[in-house]
Amino acid sequence: MSTVLMEKGQASTKPTQKFYRLVEHVKELNKIGKAFYEKKLSLITEGKDLSKEEERQYDLTCMEGHCIDHFFGAEGYRTYGMIAEFCKTNGIERVFDIGCAYGHQSECFLQEGIDYVGVNTNKIDFWNADRFEYVTGHYPCELPTKKNDLAVSVLALTWNCYLYEKEETLKQQCEALHRDFEHCLLYLTEGAMQYLSQYFKKVEKLDRDLYYFSNKEEVIMNNDNNIKLVGTLGG
Ligand SMILES: C[S@@+](CC[C@H](N)C(=O)[O-])C[C@H]1O[C@@H](n2cnc3c(N)ncnc32)[C@H](O)[C@@H]1O
Repeated sequence: MSTVLMEKGQASTKPTQKFYRLVEHVKELNKIGKAFYEKKLSLITEGKDLSKEEERQYDLTCMEGHCIDHFFGAEGYRTYGMIAEFCKTNGIERVFDIGCAYGHQSECFLQEGIDYVGVNTNKIDFWNADRFEYVTGHYPCELPTKKNDLAVSVLALTWNCYLYEKEETLKQQCEALHRDFEHCLLYLTEGAMQYLSQYFKKVEKLDRDLYYFSNKEEVIMNNDNNIKLVGTLGG
C-alpha cells in the first residue's frame, strides 16, 4: 500500500500541526499494510497465502488508507475545511455529514469546535467515534435533527453511482433533505444543483461544485424593535 503521504517521503508532523492525529494514523496504517504485503509475498513464493482473517484485515487497512489519501490528495480537507469555516461564520453549531464513509473529515469540525454527526450506509471503524455521534443508515432514514442543524454531503447524496433507482432516488433524497433540514451544504454537479433548487428558496454557490441551499427565514429587528421575518438567510 502506498499513500500520498508516503510518496512525498512521509510528512513530518508535530502534535501542534493541523491534522496531526490523522497523519500519525495513516503512518500506522502504512506500517500495518506493508507488513501484510510482505507476509503475503513471502507466502506466495511458498505456494501459500494469507489466512481469510489476515486478508480481511489487510483489505480494511488498505481501504482506510485510500480514504485518507483521498482526503489529503483529492482536496477533501479543503472542501470540508470550507464547510467548517462556513459553519463558524454563520453560527451553525452542528452538521450531519450524510455519506461520511470513515468520517476522517470530522477532524475539520473538531478543530473549529463544531458538533458533527456522521451518517453512513454501512458501519465502519468511524474516526473520532469517541467524540462524535455516528448513525449507520442509508439516507433517507430517521435522524435526530434539531433546528439549525446543517445537512452536509460530499460525493454521496445526488451522485449517480448512489442513485440506485435513478431519478426516483434523487427525488426521495431531495424530499427528505427538504423535510429534515432547513438548510444544507452539498458538493454536487450542476444538474443535481438545478434539481435540488426546486426544494429550497435560496441557493448560493460557495465554491466550485459546493452549494448552500436554504429555506431559513432570517429574523431581524425593524426600527421599532419589532421582530420581522425577511425571506431567507442572507437573501
Ligand atoms: C465516495 S464516499 C464519500 C465520503 C466522504 N463524504 C468524502 O467526501 O470523502 C461516499 C460514501 O457515502 C455513502 N453513501 C452513499 N449514499 C448514501 C446514503 N444515501 N446514505 C448514507 N450513506 C451513503 C457510501 O456508502 C460511501 O461510504
